[in-house]
Amino acid sequence: MAGAPVSEHLGLEAKELEHTSGGQVKLFSGNANRPLAEAVAKALGIRLGQATVERFPDGEVRVRLLESIRGDDVYLIQPTAPPVNDHLMELLVLADAVRRSSAARINAVIPYFGYARQDKQTQGREPITARLVAGLLEHVGIHRVITVDLHAPQIQGFFYYPVDELSAVRLFAEYLEGQGLTENAVVVSPDSGRAEQARRLSERLNLPLALLAKRRIGPRETQVSYVIGDVAGKRPIIIDDIISTGGTIRRGVEALLAAGALPEVIVMASHAVLVGNARENLAHPAIREVVFTDTIALNPALGYTILPTAPLLAQAIRRVHTNQSVSVLI
Ligand code: R5P
Repeated sequence: MAGAPVSEHLGLEAKELEHTSGGQVKLFSGNANRPLAEAVAKALGIRLGQATVERFPDGEVRVRLLESIRGDDVYLIQPTAPPVNDHLMELLVLADAVRRSSAARINAVIPYFGYARQDKQTQGREPITARLVAGLLEHVGIHRVITVDLHAPQIQGFFYYPVDELSAVRLFAEYLEGQGLTENAVVVSPDSGRAEQARRLSERLNLPLALLAKRRIGPRETQVSYVIGDVAGKRPIIIDDIISTGGTIRRGVEALLAAGALPEVIVMASHAVLVGNARENLAHPAIREVVFTDTIALNPALGYTILPTAPLLAQAIRRVHTNQSVSVLI
């Protein structure tokens, strides 16, 4: 039965997955990243809730929950990864089904929050679509969002209800240390927006920090104007939140090489959006390794290193459910 606690990974007692309201934790997934949802369920020692999430012949999303969730605390796991609109719609429709099935609380676990780059007007007459998405999630009755590395932390404020933002920085740091990749390295932020994440990684690893000054020169094009910090003779570790087309990374690598960095770049990003020329850009000869998390489903055959986020997400769910601090995970 869904919610039956087995929990060897988290050492949970049977009662721990029952909220004080008496509701059980139930997890459901859309189609965006079922392997991640399965892994979270396994880490919590429960099985994924039974639901069909499919399409009508005209493409409309059709959802049906195949088990009762009355009075339960439901967690919907769905990164809004490409195709973004389809996956967002699945999440909204799932939430509507959950709300109409009398769940006690609806929590959205959105490991990758799409539309986050549209968090402000950059020119006149533009929408703020990240705010619109937050409003839609609120409208369907979601009480909380758990997410990983938002493109901009202020997006938390677009939601009226709590947002628990987790970070992949610790996973990256542990990986780099475990693989002995920190010697003579410098952590590089590819733009000012990533400076805080890069600072946290550099402090964890006790490494110097450099920053690339990225300038937008057109709607789809940016240019690195200069490198702030000393990278000469060092092995750069670039950390970004998203790799979409890989253009930012390619231009960053070229700027680092021009500033004398060694052609042994490690690229780390939380979310493998990977569209357009991403694979070609990431195949740059100076890139030694590309490391992603699995917030977005990624084919291992592409040859990138994939760090699992299920233990982190499961810990967050467990802590939210048992009213414990989530900030210790960050
Ligand atoms: C931008 O501010 C983001 O943090 C990423 O650097 C950017 O979205 C990556 O896009 P692309 O891979 O298309 O250059």
